Amino acid sequence: MSTERSAKPDLGELFSEERSAEVVCASLAGSPDPRVRQVLGSLVRHLHAFVKDVELTEREWAEAIAFLTATGHKCDDTRQEFILLSDVLGVSMLVETINHRAVGAATESTVTGPFHVVDSPPRELGADISLGVPGDPCLVTGRVTGPAGQPVPGAQVDVWHADAEGFYDVQRTSACSGADNLRGLFTTDADGRFWFRTIVPRYYPIPVDGPVGRLLEAMARHPYRPAHIHFIVSAPGYATVTTHLFADDSPYLDSDAVFGVKESLVRAFPEVDDPERAERFGLANPFRSVDFEVSLLPD
Ligand code: BEZ
Ligand code: FE
Repeated sequence: MSTERSAKPDLGELFSEERSAEVVCASLAGSPDPRVRQVLGSLVRHLHAFVKDVELTEREWAEAIAFLTATGHKCDDTRQEFILLSDVLGVSMLVETINHRAVGAATESTVTGPFHVVDSPPRELGADISLGVPGDPCLVTGRVTGPAGQPVPGAQVDVWHADAEGFYDVQRTSACSGADNLRGLFTTDADGRFWFRTIVPRYYPIPVDGPVGRLLEAMARHPYRPAHIHFIVSAPGYATVTTHLFADDSPYLDSDAVFGVKESLVRAFPEVDDPERAERFGLANPFRSVDFEVSLLPD
């Protein structure tokens, strides 16, 4: 009978509380994609640091899993609760801002939100996009320019906004809702200009009938966004900008539920009393007006 003991197997570095992140990160070493190693490695290090920082209890961990599961269940073709979660945690704005750093006088970007439709209805310059929805008449004028201030003719200006009660057309189910009202796709003229008629939008709450609504409640935060008009402006050879115009008299400019406000995007919508101009643009006098110069960067 041999008295020799067999050698211990080499178990490598096993999981420990102290070196948990390093042990998990070491398991990523075989990934051939350096970006996968960088992104997942950083995610693991931050997640482990977070769990250690708050000493997460098993009950809290289970609640978090239930919350994420409910968030997934709330998603369908028209509702994206994960993006809403990213919005209220400021992650959407951070990704947007990092990926579209405005240079010089270029127009700053902000979140897209869930109410953009894939195919905005093409409209003639000067069209009334309210399609009869009640509200204060408003003339929106603007110009798309390049970095040296040169006009950009033929740019696509995709526009959408909420009505005077704070609802988008896609949220209206009653018979009074018009199809595709308060949205339109315009093409700038030879001078880079665009203009259209609409009504003044109102502030509104983001959807709160799901897990994100419960999260806002737990944080004692309101769900409102200040009044704004959405724009996506694109032209060949230029970087597309997704942005808003915010009304300077709106509540919630200082506490947007999705952190979308940038100072450079806030504008006055003054009342204009000018019967001749009103007649020229086909508006009731007096009317509100706003002008937006959109400065694009080369692609
Ligand atoms: C919006 O402005 O349409 C919006 C943005 C983020 C979340 C919800 C709505
Ligand atoms: Fe919006």
